[in-house]
Amino acid sequence: MVVVGALVSGAGTNLQAIIDRVAAGRLDCELRVVVSNRPGAAALARATAAGIPTRVVDHRRFAAREDFDRALVGVLREAHVDLVVLAGFDRLITPVLLDAFPLRIMNIHPALLPAFPGLHAQRQALDYGVKIAGASVHFVDRETDHGPLIVQGAVAVAPDESEETLRDRVLAVEHEIYPTAIQLFAEGRLRVEGRRVVIRGVRPPLPPPLISW
Ligand code: GRF
Repeated sequence: MVVVGALVSGAGTNLQAIIDRVAAGRLDCELRVVVSNRPGAAALARATAAGIPTRVVDHRRFAAREDFDRALVGVLREAHVDLVVLAGFDRLITPVLLDAFPLRIMNIHPALLPAFPGLHAQRQALDYGVKIAGASVHFVDRETDHGPLIVQGAVAVAPDESEETLRDRVLAVEHEIYPTAIQLFAEGRLRVEGRRVVIRGVRPPLPPPLISW
């Protein structure tokens, strides 16, 4: 059982996927606190509906990013979380938060990293003309959307794909891979060796190649 604190800013569909996986008895995690930097985030209502304590730490109240992060660390430490899950959290984090939870912060990004880090990843992918898109769960390091990859998932890009349709299909992938990554962490299977995350003791079935044109 891993104790998780989630940082959110928006709709919270990834948070919901984690909540649902726990409720289904398929994720050994206790979501102990959900923290939002935005008071109106829909993710907060999802947490409350699931009986999870919520906190708002409004980044606008802090002069420096480090001060904001110190406040987050306080909330997360108070809740004694083992793992911090960024689930649609829209602030860049600083070493203050990173160093408080070394290799214990995960993020999800809606692209097949290292392609298309940063904002509007799905639009970047479409503009680039990729035929295969996807999402990545990774440990957070000092660079944005950069740390060691834990789980990735891919979708074929349809010829008439729009940013919205791609976002929705990538989100469906996200909702599978984030709970999976957290479960692997909960089972103590993740060992980070440089850039590589070695997963001990389980071997996922090798799917057939995904070919798209
Ligand atoms: C997701 O696409 C996630 O990959 C990105 O922000 C979005 C958050 O969506 N980091 P939601 O709030 O989980 O619905």
